[in-house]
Amino acid sequence: MLKKNIGFKYYFKTFSSIVKRRPFILYHKPTLLCNCKCEFCDFWKIKDPNELTLTRENISTILKEGWDKGFSTYVLWGGEPLMVKDLGFYLKTAKNIGYKTSMCTAGLLLKERFEEIKDNIDIIIISLESTGEKHNRTRRTPNLFEKIVDGIELFKNQKNVKIKIWSHINRINKNDFIDVLKFAKKYGIVVEFFPSNIFSDYNESIILDKNERYEVFNKIIFYKKIGYPVNNSIKALKIMRDKIPYVCNKAKISVQIENDGTIYPCERRFVEDMKSYGNILQDGFSKINDKKLYLYNVKKLSKCSNCFFPCVGESVDNLLVSGFVRFLNFVMNKDS
Ligand SMILES: C[S@@+](CC[C@H](N)C(=O)[O-])C[C@H]1O[C@@H](n2cnc3c(N)ncnc32)[C@H](O)[C@@H]1O
Ligand code: SF4
Ligand code: SF4
Repeated sequence: MLKKNIGFKYYFKTFSSIVKRRPFILYHKPTLLCNCKCEFCDFWKIKDPNELTLTRENISTILKEGWDKGFSTYVLWGGEPLMVKDLGFYLKTAKNIGYKTSMCTAGLLLKERFEEIKDNIDIIIISLESTGEKHNRTRRTPNLFEKIVDGIELFKNQKNVKIKIWSHINRINKNDFIDVLKFAKKYGIVVEFFPSNIFSDYNESIILDKNERYEVFNKIIFYKKIGYPVNNSIKALKIMRDKIPYVCNKAKISVQIENDGTIYPCERRFVEDMKSYGNILQDGFSKINDKKLYLYNVKKLSKCSNCFFPCVGESVDNLLVSGFVRFLNFVMNKDS
């Protein structure tokens, strides 16, 4: 069954971009500011002097031009997207154009921003690595878990908003995934797991080694098989467990606008020697039509295996096959 808040325009645009072989997911990091001080992520330390504050006019232009270029899914993350003053306007504009909208958040401000965003967000990805006080301690943010619970309860009553949990795993929380799964089950939501990435000079000591990784992801496979709400496919879980090489299709399916306006196919800090598609304010999306640039990035990223974010993990290897499975799951309301 089609989701109420997502119109045919979205499905048509996505399908036509896939057929024309052009990216259809627009990631946007409007800010690097955030309101946690996580032990595993150092974004909270960064003060970027080049960060842009986009005007409403900028946002309207970017989203309209993006749609015309074939983008159909708009994903906000950061930093913390709930700290963006005009977030309600971003989402409303995107929804009016026809995008599917999504946001990855730490969740501290879900309740505060509820009224502004509730009608124009299709999927909220809440990050949860542990539960209760442990989560608050690792993210060094008092009452964070309690605020996440408040937010989930509010949004769960909005029938058009899908909530899911992203839970990356490292040495701090490698035994906590069962608590996260029990929590998700209680609220009727799904969890997508992935291993934590190295952020140089910050979190090396907590990254799982080969054996730890095998053990944790093997257990997660078991929990999925006995019915816990693990949303990763078995294929993706086995890639994570066994560190099986894969072809990353990120550059084929998406681009990302950074907080300073530069456009790249992926995170700058994860992939060396990517080529930029220019700056959104100076160039708009004109450079994503540059075939040479695009093919360079597609080739470069296909060999990278520096992360396994769930959005990446479900679209590896043969894009047509994985894309078809994802699309079917989405239409059937099983996945996003
Ligand atoms: C960088 S955060 C930005 C959005 C928001 N601030 C949040 O915490 O959800 C995006 C995602 O990256 C995850 N993340 C943070 N540190 C990570 C790490 N070292 N490895 C993998 N994922 C990480 C977060 O948990 C979140 O799901
Ligand atoms: S994970 Fe999110 S909230 Fe935590 S430091 Fe990174 S960006 Fe900030
Ligand atoms: S594996 Fe991860 S870091 Fe590397 S290109 Fe793909 S999405 Fe980017």
